[in-house]
Amino acid sequence: AGTGKFFVGGNWKCNGTKDSITKLVADLNDAKLENNVDIVVAPPYIYVDQVKQSLTDHIEISAQNCWVGKGGAFTGEISAEQLIDIGCKWVILGHSERRHIIGEDDQFIGKKAAFALSQNLKVIACIGEKLEERETGKTFDVCFQQMKSFADIILNWMDVVIAYEPVWAIGTGKVATPQQAQEVHAAIRDWLKKNVSAEVASSIRIIYGGSVNGSNCSELAKQQDIDGFLVGGASLKGSEFAIIVNSVT
Ligand code: G3P
Repeated sequence: AGTGKFFVGGNWKCNGTKDSITKLVADLNDAKLENNVDIVVAPPYIYVDQVKQSLTDHIEISAQNCWVGKGGAFTGEISAEQLIDIGCKWVILGHSERRHIIGEDDQFIGKKAAFALSQNLKVIACIGEKLEERETGKTFDVCFQQMKSFADIILNWMDVVIAYEPVWAIGTGKVATPQQAQEVHAAIRDWLKKNVSAEVASSIRIIYGGSVNGSNCSELAKQQDIDGFLVGGASLKGSEFAIIVNSVT
């Protein structure tokens, strides 16, 4: 890990029921969690309020998405102001499932990030290459292009965490090696230094996501430019999520 405060997010995706989420919250409330870690969980929208009411304050709440602008006649959407209203502090934007399954493009995601930040919602900005892009040597190009779409519109980076999530590692059990992840994290930091500022590059947290679990987290956490994790499947088990949180070095 680098110099920024270690950050671990649990992205619950479209999983859970009232009952299973009640149990997960109870397990997280009972877990022994390191104090010096920023911890965030992202329940499905409809459970955000339930989780906010019942979860320890040590863990902040994130949404998994939000609308691109002010609320209004946008059927099925949730606005940044509404998330703030119910005590949500963070939003995940640009997740590969939204990019590649739902079809959100770089520009739309950039706009969402800028609007969310303008409403004082902090942003977990996700980037990452697909398998064929890695295999054809395009990893850096893809990641830098996605970074550019954020950098073109974001002015305040203080409330941003970057999540590098190679698509081939998400939900596949094929975690990036510590060296693979470190190489991309260092390249993103270098890109920020050249294209945003040295200050942002050195202070921003760059976290890794993609098949992180209780067994592979500590080797990853030792890498210089890995400042934490965004965890999917393993965040649905309180005890395993606690191991990942406590892998802070
Ligand atoms: O946002 C977290 C994520 O996409 C990783 O999912 O299940 O591979 O940990 P998973």
